[in-house]
Amino acid sequence: MQKSLSFLDVIKQYIEAGDIILPVLSSAALRIQQELVKKEPEMEVVENLIAKDQSLSSQVLQMANSAFYHGLVEIKTVRAAVVRMGMREVGRITLLAATKNQFRSKNKVLNIVMHRLWQHSVGCALGAEWLSKRCKFEELESHAFFAGLFHDLGKLFVLMVIDQMKEKNKDLPLTQALLMEAMTVLHTEQGYNLMKQWNMPEEYCVISRDHHNRDIDSKNDLLLLVRLSNMACHKLSIGLKKEPSLVLSASEEAQYLNISEIDLAELEILLEDTAILAG
Ligand SMILES: [Fe+2]
Ligand SMILES: [Fe+2]
Repeated sequence: MQKSLSFLDVIKQYIEAGDIILPVLSSAALRIQQELVKKEPEMEVVENLIAKDQSLSSQVLQMANSAFYHGLVEIKTVRAAVVRMGMREVGRITLLAATKNQFRSKNKVLNIVMHRLWQHSVGCALGAEWLSKRCKFEELESHAFFAGLFHDLGKLFVLMVIDQMKEKNKDLPLTQALLMEAMTVLHTEQGYNLMKQWNMPEEYCVISRDHHNRDIDSKNDLLLLVRLSNMACHKLSIGLKKEPSLVLSASEEAQYLNISEIDLAELEILLEDTAILAG
């Protein structure tokens, strides 16, 4: 216990010293997100942003052709992807592709945890988006995806901090248990701070901060969508937690959103498929 406490203190001190390389949101991803939440996003803007970046385009096409989207004919261009899947879906895939590279470390233990966190973030994003459609919150679809993708941004931040500490001090002990504790304790506050530094709208920052609060803000639909999707990911062990005994339909979130058991069963099927996309 003493050991893990001191590990936490060291991390906090390191963060307070401010000498940290932060996770970044690529400018293309940010511009695409801003376009997607508009009432009438322009296809050309999204397409040009993707086309400008060669590696991004190829990652987008790879995802668009993955079994998750059940395509029968191979998609070879971004335009074809837009025609087949719709601009919003392609925009969301692009956000995934642009974000994925952040979840990597040269350190083996950290890399495994980051990869699990990535799978969790993708699951939560797609689940929250799906729930928003099912609840007929059309105007929230793109927001739900983005808020789901970044709800645990604080965990990525904590892992990156530890990664940088480890670079400087090779003797620093790293176990999954220590990493889990550090993330659990620190991620909501750090996630909120980082979202603020990214100049994200307050509604996303709040989700980073409040998604584990005991008292649920039942009027915040976006928060409810992300919380329920997050729980479903935990139930299915998508990410770092395993809680197979969770009964989603009994959760306050499901009740506030008025989601049926059949809907929740469908959500679980969708989430099981997300492993293909986030592999
Ligand atoms: Fe979390
Ligand atoms: Fe989470």
